[in-house]
Amino acid sequence: MKNKVIITGGTGYIGSHTAVEFIQNGFEVVLVDNLSNSDISIVDRIEKITGIKPEFEEIDLTDIKKTSSFFKKHKDAKGVINFAALKAVGESVQKPIEYYRNNLNILLNVLENMEVNSISNFIFSSSATVYGLPDKLPITEESETKRPTSPYGNTKKVGEEIIEDFVKIAKNVKAISLRYFNPIGAHKSGLIGEAPTGIPNNLMPYITQVAAGVRKELKVFGKDYDTKDGTAIRDYIHVMDLAVAHMAAFKRLNDTGKDQKYEIFNIGTGIGYSVLDVISSFEKTSKQKLNYSFDDRREGDVPMLYADSSKASKVLHWGTSLSLDDMTRSSWEWEESLK
Ligand code: NAD
Ligand code: UD1
Repeated sequence: MKNKVIITGGTGYIGSHTAVEFIQNGFEVVLVDNLSNSDISIVDRIEKITGIKPEFEEIDLTDIKKTSSFFKKHKDAKGVINFAALKAVGESVQKPIEYYRNNLNILLNVLENMEVNSISNFIFSSSATVYGLPDKLPITEESETKRPTSPYGNTKKVGEEIIEDFVKIAKNVKAISLRYFNPIGAHKSGLIGEAPTGIPNNLMPYITQVAAGVRKELKVFGKDYDTKDGTAIRDYIHVMDLAVAHMAAFKRLNDTGKDQKYEIFNIGTGIGYSVLDVISSFEKTSKQKLNYSFDDRREGDVPMLYADSSKASKVLHWGTSLSLDDMTRSSWEWEESLK
């Protein structure tokens, strides 16, 4: 019998890529999502890639009753990967209650039901946003976490704290938080990728939409940072390398004894690329000239952020294999497939 894993937010961007990775590694995958930021067609697309149609349930995980009957039904699962959350930084500033209610209630409901049903392995999607403006680069997991500037970011910081408190008393649950840096790119099939609704906030989908003619011009936020070319630096990571990190974390949870109840890992490449580096890689791999101009810095942006992921490399035996060119190429192929 296959090991069963529950993927919340499983039809979303990172959840769908992780579902593919788990199915291809022999797991039985159950996707649960309320489809507030994703489409049901993703389930068939996952089947097209893997040859296996994952089970899917449309449930709002803030609904206590429905969540609890879902978990009762799937109590034979070996673990949960919790992607479900609202994630738009700007919107969270306008709708803090909605963001705290959604993201934190999902977490509370999932953890409680895991304990009740003795499902032991939990992986949480955290973010490098918990580091705020870093004092030292690259950032290790020991670096101080700071109050994130947005309510969205704060749901990640508070979420981590809730997990830490919970596993101390939990009899059954062990947990890992993965602090993602900047996930971009898409599956090589061109069948799944990031599909932002409305105007994208993030760099990569904005670039591909400009190239596709959906938006007119990319504004590069800031050209006077103290960096090699004046533009801000981030640690971009291919979404498939990120998916593999979840597999490595899952193995770690299965391997560790009761003494290691909660661990945190940075998940990045360790390489910082500037906005202009990303544009130039995109122009090369897509053979497109990108229309862009410079604008003021965006409020709340840090000049530089990149990971020290040596803990993940040592403990999870995980590393990245895909380059910035792989990321920009696959993002463009995905955008083209949407035409
Ligand atoms: P996404 O929006 O594509 O996926 C999240 C999924 O959760 C969506 O399909 C949405 O419909 C679902 N969802 C939201 N509220 C729900 C609810 N109440 N009940 C059931 N389902 C619900 O986002 P993503 O980019 O795949 O991100 C996945 C996770 O990773 C999120 O927790 C996000 O905060 C975190 N994260 C993302 C990034 C990034 O750059 N994409 C960076 C750091 C952390
Ligand atoms: C943003 C969020 C962060 C979240 C992450 C992943 C903010 C302040 N931070 O991180 O909380 O975890 O997304 O969802 O929103 N850029 C441009 N022009 C654009 C868009 C972006 O120049 O139109 C630049 C930004 O200034 C930044 C880089 O590109 O230097 C990457 O931006 P983005 O993709 O939005 O990610 P972050 O700001 O790192």
